[in-house]
Amino acid sequence: MRETHLSVHNFVLPLFVSEKVAQRRPIASMPGVFQLPVKEIADEARAAEDLGLQAVLLFGIPKKKDEQASGAYAEDGIVQKALRVIKSKCPDLVTITDVCLCEYMSHGHCGVTNIDGDHFHVLNDETVELLAKTALSHATAGADIVAPSDMMDGRVGAIRAALDATGFDQTAIMSYAAKFASAFYGPFREAAESPPQFGDRRSYQMDIANAKEALREVALDIDEGADIVMIKPALPYMDILWRVHERFGKPTAVYHVSGEYAMVKAAVEKGLLNERDAVLEIMTALKRAGANIIVTYWARELARWLRE
Ligand code: PBG
Repeated sequence: MRETHLSVHNFVLPLFVSEKVAQRRPIASMPGVFQLPVKEIADEARAAEDLGLQAVLLFGIPKKKDEQASGAYAEDGIVQKALRVIKSKCPDLVTITDVCLCEYMSHGHCGVTNIDGDHFHVLNDETVELLAKTALSHATAGADIVAPSDMMDGRVGAIRAALDATGFDQTAIMSYAAKFASAFYGPFREAAESPPQFGDRRSYQMDIANAKEALREVALDIDEGADIVMIKPALPYMDILWRVHERFGKPTAVYHVSGEYAMVKAAVEKGLLNERDAVLEIMTALKRAGANIIVTYWARELARWLRE
């Protein structure tokens, strides 16, 4: 009678690859998650593949940051290097790359920023140009799917055009279509070393109170050529997930984010929750609500639990 079944193929494992570490470095706010050097990334990818996972989502931490996020689209950038080694060792593993500038910007914002005294704003069109450049450089290095997570206007269309113009018409786009300005990204910003140095991300990420706007954002991304649309975070936005999946019928992804992960981990460490039961319940609920793809830091454990 069960209506909803989880499969290992539903899960995408995020990986953090860093130019600044010589060996894996634990992330204090996310127990079980590490920053990895390039030399360990292929083994990590292979281990994921051996567990039956089909896809990884790569985030890069560069050695140097600047005001043009040049590390994001450098040919020898950290994500580009990681892609080449993963593709040489695990050609069948689907590689997804987070396309954003925040990890590469000295100020930690997701775009090119104009600072005027106490005020700043992010320059949408200048940012979109750099995002398209970044996506193209990821595709060139072997990315199968690019995932813009910045929330600038028009970036999906610009990325699609840049890819199509250069022979990467088979590279798919998974857009972070409804990404809310959430409190639950805190631990990730430690993992990716990307907290904004001033201000916050509310001028470009969505108001947590808006559902109709989320549907408009998703519609725009689909019009511009998104193949997969993503809702983020997960549990507090299940109403959005459900509506997006029902309304558009597109492959729908949800990102169960760092803060949601840390919350359960903390409860488990205190002996308040059974990790396996709680995580399987969360993931089943997300799938029931319409998720075809779930990005989760528990992807490996889930692969093991589903085998048992
Ligand atoms: C980059 C990006 C963020 C996350 C994914 N891509 C951080 C942010 O927008 O602040 C968050 C992921 C997580 O919390 O697990 N823009």
